[in-house]
Amino acid sequence: MKPIAVNISNKQMTKKLFIETFGCQMNFSDSEIVVSIMNDDGYEITDDVFLADVIFLNTCSVRDNAEQRVFKRLRELKSLRKNNLSLVIGVLGCMAERMKESLLDEPVSGIRIDLVAGPDAYRDLPEMIRDVESGQKAINVILSMEETYADLTPVRYSSNGVSAFITIMRGCENFCSYCVVPGARGKERSRDPDTIIPEAKQLYEQGFRETTLLGQNVNSYRWECPVAGRTITFPYLIEQIAGICPSMRIRFATSHPKDLSDELIEAIAAHSNICRSIHLPVQSGSNAVLKRMNRKYTAESYMERIAAIRKAIPQCAVTTDIIAGFCGETEEDHQQTLKLMKDVKFDFAYMFRYSERPGTPAEKSYPDDVPDDTKKRRLEEIIRLQQKLSHESNKLDIGRVFEVLVEGPSKRSSDNVMGRNSQNKVVVFKDEGYKPGTYVKVKINECTSATLIGEAV
Ligand code: SAH
Ligand code: SF4
Ligand code: F3S
Repeated sequence: MKPIAVNISNKQMTKKLFIETFGCQMNFSDSEIVVSIMNDDGYEITDDVFLADVIFLNTCSVRDNAEQRVFKRLRELKSLRKNNLSLVIGVLGCMAERMKESLLDEPVSGIRIDLVAGPDAYRDLPEMIRDVESGQKAINVILSMEETYADLTPVRYSSNGVSAFITIMRGCENFCSYCVVPGARGKERSRDPDTIIPEAKQLYEQGFRETTLLGQNVNSYRWECPVAGRTITFPYLIEQIAGICPSMRIRFATSHPKDLSDELIEAIAAHSNICRSIHLPVQSGSNAVLKRMNRKYTAESYMERIAAIRKAIPQCAVTTDIIAGFCGETEEDHQQTLKLMKDVKFDFAYMFRYSERPGTPAEKSYPDDVPDDTKKRRLEEIIRLQQKLSHESNKLDIGRVFEVLVEGPSKRSSDNVMGRNSQNKVVVFKDEGYKPGTYVKVKINECTSATLIGEAV
């Protein structure tokens, strides 16, 4: 029988997609690509999971607790199947890539999953859904050497209209020994600048005032330009974007300390709209640990990079990532991490307990030998110290005036608005009818360890 009636009803009722994202900014940026692909196939995004015909979880594998959060969410979704027999549930992203077909095993995932798609398989999603609709399970976890989704326009479905991400490269080949990302995201590849620059321009014209250029290590951005016969590197790219959109702020994440070049520092210093904020994950202050992590720099060379930043851009904030309790970490190693934190005086840090990940070089080569309670205690010491450093850094801002980009109402009080300064610190001040996306000069009067509080001047 020909499904004419089905075709007509499909036309009348747009199918609804619900997508939930876990993990890093790159994954959020990928979800915008997924929505673009699904829109082109006639799907409309919904923020009500109960209305969804298709549910995608775009997942993260970086630590065990990231995966546990996804499993918890999958179990919560189980009851939705009872009311909607044709509901399609798909797992996308890094966990899909890491776990592959094992996710299709109901005892493993705790729920029947119809579709598993790795980070380079998103163009195939509409076809995969059709396979599911015809009664098959669908899986595509093939990693690509070239895919950058460069021709697609991300749908910024959950944007505040002020800040947007642009993914400029994919994959990672640094092989830090603890990390799943090289396995989950594959070969490092850069995106054609002739697609990045127009996207930044378009965002600016649409009213966006802040763009974050994303890659696992943006400093390795590299594009061989076939026409001009030259290589375009990250400092050149960021200068181009900063020049085109002078009243749009440019941020970038993440920089690997081993290749944060003087050229990039000079590019930042030369453009006031490239933000005075560098995220430079150090992971540990011990050279022995850094070596086992395969980070390819030492505490001394890290400090040298910090000195170079501070010399060229004195008002630059430096933020970091730290892992507590990596394989073989001694008390002395831990003390060196605390010392490095104090020496740098980080403005902010993301801090984690080491989580052994299956298939990583560390899992294969080093025993996960720091006891859990020691990892926990060291992490607590790191967090406590960072809170103190953040508070001290914020106290130094009291009395200063910053240009703040307004993002929206403050969470705590509807009388106030919140925005960020160039250093990426959250600033709260009295709302006098400011629209999101406007710049306001704000004098800082007080602070907590997380927020600056001030008044417009
Ligand atoms: N590409 C970025 C970060 C990727 S993951 C970079 O190189 O900086 C973000 C952070 O998660 C890492 O910087 C690291 O601090 C943390 N991380 C990664 N793998 C981890 C693991 N196995 N256990 C604990 N933290 C981890
Ligand atoms: Fe992971 Fe290292 Fe690559 Fe960052 S640079 S994604 S920590 S392997
Ligand atoms: Fe990001 Fe997590 Fe993948 S940190 S790259 S979503 S493993």
